[in-house]
Amino acid sequence: MQRGLTIIKDEHRALAAVLRGFQYLVQQIGNSGKAPDFPLMKSMLTYIETFPDKLHHPKEDEYLYRIMRERTSEVDATLDLLEEEHRQEPEWLGRLRTSLELYERDAGAFDGFADAVEFYVASHFSHMNKEEDVVMPVAEKVLTAEDWQTIDAAFGSNQDPLVGTGTQKEFRELFRRIVNLMPAPMGLGPEQQ
Ligand SMILES: [Fe+2]
Ligand SMILES: [Fe+2]
Repeated sequence: MQRGLTIIKDEHRALAAVLRGFQYLVQQIGNSGKAPDFPLMKSMLTYIETFPDKLHHPKEDEYLYRIMRERTSEVDATLDLLEEEHRQEPEWLGRLRTSLELYERDAGAFDGFADAVEFYVASHFSHMNKEEDVVMPVAEKVLTAEDWQTIDAAFGSNQDPLVGTGTQKEFRELFRRIVNLMPAPMGLGPEQQ
């Protein structure tokens, strides 16, 4: 597989880990009455804002989707939808943050917050699945070696702190915490009975 696509998929895995970790924290609060870890949930949202929203999605628009549109119209409808989702994402994240802050001030707002998290996580998985299952197979078919050079170089400089090459200590620490928090097989934490 092309390097650019491998990097995009790795970045999806990192985002998926954060989303599952977030969902897991919320389920623990709802099902086991665990005390909410607000700083951890906030740092998960900061990660999404700092990395996928500022670097990952814009590079998909600017490089992968733009070049694909030049080569084929086969997936135009899906690309339209994905670009629209990229455009709306900051607003969705903002709403999720507001609902987290509301819950922090008022425990009675938990159900609304939990629903917002479920919706947000499901939307992201649907987004990444469309990219991997609909767009990437066509990209592998229609893009030229030169196209890949451009895309590989663009994504090669992303340095997602959760994928491994970044230097942002704060996010590496976040990933370590997520991995240790979640039970096997998703994470390295103790298996649940
Ligand atoms: Fe995307
Ligand atoms: Fe993506």
